[in-house]
Amino acid sequence: MVRVSVNGYGTIGRRIADAVKLQPDMELAGMVKRTPDYWAFLAMQKGIPIFCPDPAARTRLERAGVKVEGLLEDLFARSDIVVDCSPEKGEENKPLYESAGMKAVFQGGEVHSIAGVSFVAQCNYLEAVGRQYVRVVSCNTTALARVLKTLDDAVGVEKGIATLVRRATDPEDCAKGPIDSVVPDPVELPSHHADDVRTVMPGMDLTTMAVKVPTTHMHLHALALKVKEPDAGKAVSALLGAPRILLFESKKGYRSTANMINYAREIGRPRGDLYEVGVWKESVKVEGDWLYLFMGVHQESIVVPENIDCVRAMTGEEDASRSIQMTNKTLGMVK
Ligand SMILES: NC(=O)c1ccc[n+]([C@@H]2O[C@H](COP(=O)([O-])OP(=O)(O)OC[C@H]3O[C@@H](n4cnc5c(N)ncnc54)[C@H](OP(=O)(O)O)[C@@H]3O)[C@@H](O)[C@H]2O)c1
Repeated sequence: MVRVSVNGYGTIGRRIADAVKLQPDMELAGMVKRTPDYWAFLAMQKGIPIFCPDPAARTRLERAGVKVEGLLEDLFARSDIVVDCSPEKGEENKPLYESAGMKAVFQGGEVHSIAGVSFVAQCNYLEAVGRQYVRVVSCNTTALARVLKTLDDAVGVEKGIATLVRRATDPEDCAKGPIDSVVPDPVELPSHHADDVRTVMPGMDLTTMAVKVPTTHMHLHALALKVKEPDAGKAVSALLGAPRILLFESKKGYRSTANMINYAREIGRPRGDLYEVGVWKESVKVEGDWLYLFMGVHQESIVVPENIDCVRAMTGEEDASRSIQMTNKTLGMVK
């Protein structure tokens, strides 16, 4: 059993902790918490061992009534690997992992150089095998990489242009906007997302642009891809066959990102999580050499399976498809 700890129990960390508990080859050693908020009490209710980064935090949590198992060094003593899910504090935390000799997975808010390897299971699983540090890329990059890899293998992508319509913030965050505007983010083009895709798919000729809109549940990407073989049927078949990509049909009523979230809720996914990229089937069209599509990305959950596979690769599993299949099965994905 690989003993996994989670540092940062927020949007991503909570999901990864639950996903680790579902793996037959992993156990959750514990998580790190600084603030005695309701998440600490919910974790305690779920029986998740709670650790603190320092004695001051421990006092704070214990005074509030949270049961604390120990400090960071105690957690590391019972872990093989830590998944850093901090709000972009990976650079601050890395020296702690280095001095404890801990393997660490970082998230997409960190820069590529923090680990030297960025990861999307379907693209470059083997690069992570046995590594000390790996970064799982962001939600947007994960979605782009899954779909670009699938289509590149099937119809050959010569170049691509992607427009990302991004949710403003996560559902519980009431401190951020926009509330009543659409914001080019950034105004200066292109956006950084294409460079991030190239950390897992070097040489991919891609340009990205992004805007922020006042929603909280999903991103929507519009892709235009110049392809070697402009065959929409072949592209659809490849997307249908690829793991972690689902096709949604607008004629069945899947007309918005909200409908995709409803799908995840209705099939009983925890928190209504959609780990897969949701491609609108009718949007996959060819005109001349160009292939077009729309896809939805559930920002809170899409990187969860990637983190599980990344832990497996770093701790020695060399078979990418075995790991992907095990993760998919335990998280309730059909493919
Ligand atoms: N949210 C998304 O949609 C999304 C999607 C993909 C990737 N990511 C990436 O995933 C990472 C985590 O994002 P998130 O949205 O999950 O974060 P988050 O929800 O904003 O916060 C995570 C938690 O980390 C704790 N924390 C604060 N300082 C910390 C530190 N120095 N070290 C460890 N934990 C600390 C905080 O709880 P306590 O104060 O109680 O410890 C906080 O609640 C980021 O790199 C982000 O870019 C996020």
